[in-house]
Amino acid sequence: MEKKEEIKVKRNRINVLVLGSGARENAIALSISKSKLLKKLFISSGNYGTELLGENVSLDNDFSQIKKFVIDNDISLVVVGGEQLLVDGIWDYFKEDKQLKDVLVVGPSKKGASLEGSKAFAKSFMKEYNIPTAKSKTFTKENIDEAFAFLETMSPPYVLKADGLAAGKGVLIVDNLVEAKEELNSMLMNQKFGNASEKVVIEQYLDGIECSCFVLTDGKNYKILPFAKDYKRIGENNTGLNTGGMGAVSPVVFCDKDFVEKVEKRIILPTIKGLEKEKIEYQGFIFIGLMSVNGEPYVIEYNVRMGDPETEVVFPRIKTDILELFLALKDNKLNEVELEIGNNVSVCVVLASKGYPEKFEKGYKITGMDNTKQCTLFYAGVEKKNEDLLTNGGRVIVVSAKCRSIKGARRKCYSNIENILFNGKYYRRDIGEDLMEIEQRRKENKK
Ligand code: AMP
Ligand code: GLY
Repeated sequence: MEKKEEIKVKRNRINVLVLGSGARENAIALSISKSKLLKKLFISSGNYGTELLGENVSLDNDFSQIKKFVIDNDISLVVVGGEQLLVDGIWDYFKEDKQLKDVLVVGPSKKGASLEGSKAFAKSFMKEYNIPTAKSKTFTKENIDEAFAFLETMSPPYVLKADGLAAGKGVLIVDNLVEAKEELNSMLMNQKFGNASEKVVIEQYLDGIECSCFVLTDGKNYKILPFAKDYKRIGENNTGLNTGGMGAVSPVVFCDKDFVEKVEKRIILPTIKGLEKEKIEYQGFIFIGLMSVNGEPYVIEYNVRMGDPETEVVFPRIKTDILELFLALKDNKLNEVELEIGNNVSVCVVLASKGYPEKFEKGYKITGMDNTKQCTLFYAGVEKKNEDLLTNGGRVIVVSAKCRSIKGARRKCYSNIENILFNGKYYRRDIGEDLMEIEQRRKENKK
């Protein structure tokens, strides 16, 4: 006979929809698929990896189509993977609709999403709540002369940021003043990033080491998820063009207890208090891009979603039932759930198509996945055609592995990568190397 508790859980099982189609959503879907609270999982539009975990559906990111699907399929919870739908106001759309208002959307309200959708808003929020960040000023074409004058008061390198969403390309770091002025001119006067650069934030350059902090909040209570480090540049030793991220590691050796306490006290707490004070509704992730400058944390940016590829190392370390955490976002109950994190190290490496993040070719057959072990594969640009898997994007597969040490996790990742084959396979071989060196130096200093 089933125990009472099990019967109760069964009765409370829910249908869930995840919106997105990258390796991040594959990782989110994997955690959800393991939940004892799940009845059925849908992913729109999903990918080859999510098809193995639930049902892929194609909803075109259109609010009314999403509404119909949610109602027809008795969905209780929607996880929004990327920022665009949040910035477009999907949370508010649900809240304001009579039939959808009880469906939980994991994410912020439109106003909350402005923390990512408008860098000028994020800067003024940080200023208001005394959150440490680079000094900055915001300009439009109306006061471009003041912007030029402001640049002259700064020292290089010059950091120019398009205010709005610019597909991760809106930040320019320029070494000389003449070029900085030219870039500023093309952002403000020639709409280099379209509407996104109608406003430009000019800010002080922060010299330090970056890391990603993830917080899940119900708008009042919060849980700090594992920290991660992302490797954004295409080339080894952080050279070449910026990408969505070529690999990640969690935890991060320099984000020790002391640093995390500073982040919590100086950044997380005032952020949550600020949201409350501004009456900004928020039931989702806050991804705080941090720069550690000699051990002091500064906010580089807020994002209102999980990171990619950081999710592929953060989520595998979360031991708590993910749906239990999500459901607690309703009615401010997050404080009632205990967050349990595994104490192993996760490393992930992105397998990309040669040429990414610029031009690359698609349609190459991928083989060798059956020869992988002790790792998890998260899929991104992969298409199934007949019985074959073909490359279908710049970021193809993310290989993620856990071990007691970073060294062991790297070894597992890289040995499995050898077995996955496709034409033009490119990946960085140095993911986590810098962290191993820092760890080594710390050990030697302790001796
Ligand atoms: P973002 O799109 O805001 O993440 O910025 C892209 C990248 O630019 C960040 O990951 C940093 O590496 C770099 N960056 C942004 N702001 C600054 C800053 N104030 N000082 C130094 N680097 C920065
Ligand atoms: N990996 C950085 C991001 O997701 O924005």
